[in-house]
Amino acid sequence: FDTGAIAEGTTLTVKWRGKPVFIRHRTDTEIAGEASVDLASLRDPQSDADRAKDPKWLVILGICTHLGCVPISGAGEYNGWFCPCHGSHYDVSGRIRKGPAPLNMELPPYTLEGTTLVIG
Ligand code: FES
Repeated sequence: FDTGAIAEGTTLTVKWRGKPVFIRHRTDTEIAGEASVDLASLRDPQSDADRAKDPKWLVILGICTHLGCVPISGAGEYNGWFCPCHGSHYDVSGRIRKGPAPLNMELPPYTLEGTTLVIG
């Protein structure tokens, strides 16, 4: 996938092995905000640095960890994703922050070189 046309602050949804993958081009404000989250406040504690190889880019499986709906990008109380099925809110690192989902959205294996993202 080519990340060159994804504007900062927006998310592109692509299909990989039949599943949605969210590619989020994060702003500096979003990166700083996610890096400063207190891990003790998280249901599924994971640092942002462990989730984004390059802080500018977040690549996650677009599947809610509750019952598998596809969350809406740029929505919810944490401005990451909102799952309308039962009301799970995810942050801009794809971490679960509120609602019934038990875990952060999953990370697919990928490599990113320049603007070329290879998932798998
Ligand atoms: Fe997302 Fe239930 S499937 S909140």
